[in-house]
Amino acid sequence: MRYSKVAGTGSYLPEKILTNQDLERMVDTSDEWIRTRTGITQRHIAADNEMASDLAVNASCEAMAAAGVKAGDIDLIIVATTTPDVIFPSTACILQDKLGIGDCPAFDVQAVCSGFIYALATADMFIRAGKCNAALVVGTEIYSRILDWTDRSTCVLFGDGAGAVVLTQSDQPGIISSHLHADGSYSKILAVPGSICGGKVRGKPFVMMEGNVVFKFAIKVLEDVVHEALAENNFQVSDIDWLIPHQANIRIIISTAKKLGLPMEKVVATVDRHGNTSAASVPLALDIAVRDGRIKSGHLVLLEGVGGGFAWGAVLVRW
Ligand code: UT7
Repeated sequence: MRYSKVAGTGSYLPEKILTNQDLERMVDTSDEWIRTRTGITQRHIAADNEMASDLAVNASCEAMAAAGVKAGDIDLIIVATTTPDVIFPSTACILQDKLGIGDCPAFDVQAVCSGFIYALATADMFIRAGKCNAALVVGTEIYSRILDWTDRSTCVLFGDGAGAVVLTQSDQPGIISSHLHADGSYSKILAVPGSICGGKVRGKPFVMMEGNVVFKFAIKVLEDVVHEALAENNFQVSDIDWLIPHQANIRIIISTAKKLGLPMEKVVATVDRHGNTSAASVPLALDIAVRDGRIKSGHLVLLEGVGGGFAWGAVLVRW
């Protein structure tokens, strides 16, 4: 049987840091409100000349080095992003060129904060089907460019960053199973409801969110999809070594763990240092936990995401 396994991880956060104290000077908010309601203390902001593909290059180089693969070994590129460099070509094609990777399939996945989970599941299926041997899977975002910096209810929540993994062919799983969901009837509660028409922006090109509704929805589906992934593979919650949920709000992460009966010691939470980086959040948290030695060979790791669409999902991995 052909499976895929994570051969290496990488991440990148832009140099500029925007703290809660900085935000206090920009909008009517407080460090105390942001920390107690979200757990966020700082976020990173891309430089003017940095694009999502540039963040992706840095994260990808780290992941390829960790995996011990060269650009010439990569035969599939999937980039999850909601903030592509341009409308087209895809950020994946731009990344392919910047990394000097030759002819191979390269495309973007748009599933907002679940994008990396969708991209990882897709790459796993390519590898299982024998269509590729080494996939570069990236989540990269520059949310600072789609935020209304006068709207305190959204601008304090998000940040910029990128995370990447190299997935390679393996005789053993690796990725055990993936579980993807979407319900478009919730498309209006979290959206950037703008488009370009005749050279002008039509609608609102900023993140709009019904925070409370999103909060409740997220906790419900993040719990449900964990049970789904465990049940399909005859595992119990107690078998999980590490849960890596979407990093949007520490209260969502804590509530999900509590409902699952999973101690917080088994949950990776990095939202405090980079805020909600949408499609980059799960691979960023994953890379941090791999590099600080928490995730070790043989561990059972459950990655899960939820966000605009609504789209959500999970990937169960044997490390
Ligand atoms: O990636 C997936 C998408 N995003 C999420 O998962 C986010 C989901 N939602 C949330 O994380 C939370 O709903 C928020 C953090 C966005 C908001 O927290 P909340 O506890 O649900 O607060 P709230 O929206 O009920 O607002 C409470 C109060 C309001 O004032 P009043 O009406 O009680 O006087 C807001 O106007 O807090 C006020 N408020 C703020 N105050 C200071 C809202 N934003 C701020 C702010 N600073 N930045």
